[in-house]
Amino acid sequence: MAKVKITETVLRDAHQSLIATRMPREEMEPILDDMDKIGYHAVECWGGATFDAALRFLKEDPWDRLRMFKKHFKNTKLQMLFRGQNILGYNHYADDTVEYFVKKSISNGIDIIRVFDCLNDIRNLKTTIDATKKEGGHIQIAFSYTLGEAYTLEYWASLAKELENMGADSLCIKDMAGLLLPYETEKLVKKLKESTKLPIELHTHYTSGMASMSYLKGIEAGAEIIDTAASPFALGTSQPATEVMVKALEKTEYDTGLNVDKLIEVANYFLPYREECIKSGLLSTKVLGVNVNTLKYQVPGGMLSNLVKQLSDAGKENLLQEVLEEVPRVRKDFGEPPLVTPSSQIVGTQAVLNVLMGERYKMVPKESYKLVHGDFGTSVKPMNKDIVKKILKDEKQVTDRPADHIAPELKKYEKEIENYKEQDEDVLTYALFPKVATEYFEYRKAQKSGIDSKEYNKENKSYPI
Ligand code: CO
Repeated sequence: MAKVKITETVLRDAHQSLIATRMPREEMEPILDDMDKIGYHAVECWGGATFDAALRFLKEDPWDRLRMFKKHFKNTKLQMLFRGQNILGYNHYADDTVEYFVKKSISNGIDIIRVFDCLNDIRNLKTTIDATKKEGGHIQIAFSYTLGEAYTLEYWASLAKELENMGADSLCIKDMAGLLLPYETEKLVKKLKESTKLPIELHTHYTSGMASMSYLKGIEAGAEIIDTAASPFALGTSQPATEVMVKALEKTEYDTGLNVDKLIEVANYFLPYREECIKSGLLSTKVLGVNVNTLKYQVPGGMLSNLVKQLSDAGKENLLQEVLEEVPRVRKDFGEPPLVTPSSQIVGTQAVLNVLMGERYKMVPKESYKLVHGDFGTSVKPMNKDIVKKILKDEKQVTDRPADHIAPELKKYEKEIENYKEQDEDVLTYALFPKVATEYFEYRKAQKSGIDSKEYNKENKSYPI
């Protein structure tokens, strides 16, 4: 019978969602050998925002962290989250950078690369897919789940078929905002199962309070793998709790085969750190409850808090309702993109400006321009022609793959970091985050020349040289 598999997220998405990706490697290392004995399908432990956060805030080499995982996880597959042509950064990078990043991720220990694009523009996934296959990794393609007129079951089914044809080894329904409803999940999984033969993994967040119900209906409809987090870092804006899901499926045809008592030991390990995070304010109770606004407005929790903040900065909190009504109109003008980073910020900021200025698109930030120009890729639906004209004026939209306009860049970067280079991977760190990487390289150099690490102030991001 169909056994359900578990991907544990406590080392990546769970702390990214709840404590701004601030879990340092010292908090992880002591439990990794025990986690390796659990029998998870995979541990999601790298990629996403962890790379940036490790460098920027924790002054850790993310590659070292990956090698630490590999050392301890001898039986468990390591999974990372990869933003397609954006790799782990926020811009489009050249193909040579994407290919080399994939190569180094796999040679340092990654088994499964989960790749996605914020616009579900599959051209932005192709280089990552091909590189992963070349390096012998498992390529899981995730689509960014969203709601809207364009997003019918037929749309998702044909997208899944295309992804299968592109070489996906498995598919992931990636619901960053917690929009999946239980019975919609059931319908979606059934539909995908009809259109592809690929294993399906469910990834959602508990933001709207639906997650474990959606998982259950998805599992009944045939989903093979679910993403869960050890309970101290589960629920709220994170994933459902691993122990709970495993227990709920026990002695059924979906039994995961995992030992709940062993999982509770893992959970107990993380409890004191959770308490510490609550005490320091790093873990706010605000992210732990149900966000009813996600249910009501169908916008991600993070986007909503951004809207509120932008309005309160302008002293116009009273305009929230108007902004929330403007959001779907702007989204429609922009071709109904999924509301995930960065499109959620772009649509949100534009909606705020449209309302504040009293005239739509009177003020257009650079990011809106880039989205409309096609710099991120193509939208699912055509954009509003009048708005495109108003924003681009005489400039034409780009219709080919954005990375086709980026020349190979690694050679240039190798030259720029000559004086800092200690390992091959440094060039990739630098390619993604030039400023943060340089700061980190300088810090690393200072450490090596014997400056006491305690003098380094993590909060102030300053160091004594
Ligand atoms: Co997530």
